[in-house]
Amino acid sequence: MAAIETFALGKTYLAGFLRKRPKIALKPLTLTVPEGEVFGYLGPNGAGKTTTLKLLMGLVFPSGGSAKILGRDWRDPAVRVNIGFLPEQPYFYDYLTASELLDYYAQLSGLAASQRRRRIGEMLARVGLPEAGHTQLRKFSKGMLQRVGIAQAIIHDPKLIFLDEPMSGLDPIGRREVRDLIQSLKDEGKTVFFSTHILSDAEALCDRVAVLHKGELRGIGVVQDLLARFSGNVEIIWDGAAALPALQALGCECHPTGETIRAVLAQDQLDAAIDAIRRAHGRLMSITPVRASLEDYFLEKLNDTPVEVAR
Ligand SMILES: Nc1ncnc2c1ncn2[C@@H]1O[C@H](COP(=O)(O)OP(=O)(O)OP(=O)(O)O)[C@@H](O)[C@H]1O
Ligand SMILES: [Mg+2]
Repeated sequence: MAAIETFALGKTYLAGFLRKRPKIALKPLTLTVPEGEVFGYLGPNGAGKTTTLKLLMGLVFPSGGSAKILGRDWRDPAVRVNIGFLPEQPYFYDYLTASELLDYYAQLSGLAASQRRRRIGEMLARVGLPEAGHTQLRKFSKGMLQRVGIAQAIIHDPKLIFLDEPMSGLDPIGRREVRDLIQSLKDEGKTVFFSTHILSDAEALCDRVAVLHKGELRGIGVVQDLLARFSGNVEIIWDGAAALPALQALGCECHPTGETIRAVLAQDQLDAAIDAIRRAHGRLMSITPVRASLEDYFLEKLNDTPVEVAR
C-alpha cells in the first residue's frame, strides 16, 4: 500500500492587504510514496514544501485535488493516529517541561496514562535527552527543542512521519543525531517524508527525492539512479610532473602538489591520459570515479524548464 498519494493537490493563496492577488504556492502535485520509504522533499525557499506538508496534514485547505494517506482519504480523522508531524518552526509553551509536553501530545493521541509514562521515558532516551524530562523547554537549546519536537512526532508510534526541515538550525553533531534517528525509524519500517535544504542529508538518508521549485515538481527519482546518471568523470592521481603538459594539452584540469598531481577528466579521456603519464615515466597512484552529488541534480532541476516527471 502507498503511504502517501496525492492527486493534483494544489494550493493558491490570496495574498496582499487591500487588493488580494492569487499566489500559487503549489501547482497540482501528483506523487506517490510507498510504505517504508524515506522520501526527501527538496526545494529552495518558497518552493512550496511547507505548503505541501500543511495540505497533507489537513492544516490548510487545498484549492484543488485530493490525497490519500495510508490508503484513506487524507481528511479522515482515523488517519491522524498513524501519522506524526514535526512542523517547520515548532512553537512549544516555554514553561512546560519536556515530559509535560510529551504527555500532552501523547494524550492527544489517545495513549493511556500507564503507557504514556513508559513511552515518554523511551522517547526522551531515543532522542538523546534521557535526563531532560523535568527541564523546562525555555532552558533548551535549539537542537534540544528540535529533538523534543521529533519525540513529540513519534510518541504514539505512528507509521508515517512528516518532518519539515528537521535538520535546520542544528550543528553538525545535532544533524548527525537527527539523521541517525531518521535511519532508525526507517529500520523499523516506518515511512518518513521530510523536507530539507541540506542535500547531503537527503543523499545519506533518502530512498527517493523530489525537487520542487516555484510550487512545481521538477524532478523525482531514486537517489542512487540520480547519482549514477551524472557520473562520468574520473579523478586520476600520479607522481611525475613531466606528464603535466601532456595532460593539460588533453584539456584536463590539473592540480599539482609538488610531484604529485591530481586531475579530473572525462571517462573517455582516461586511456589517453594513462598513455601520456606512462610516456612521461610518471607513476600512477590512483584512478577513482568521481561521484556525482545530489546537488548537481538539484541545481539542474532548478534551472530546467518544467519537465515530464519520470517515476
Ligand atoms: N499563508 C500564506 N499566504 C500567502 N502566501 C503564502 C502563505 N503561505 C505560503 N505562502 C507562499 O507560498 C509559497 C510557498 O511557501 P512555502 O512556505 O510552502 O515554501 P517552502 O518551500 O516551505 O519554503 P522555506 O524553505 O522557506 O520553508 C511562498 O511564495 C510563500 O510566500
Ligand atoms: Mg518551509
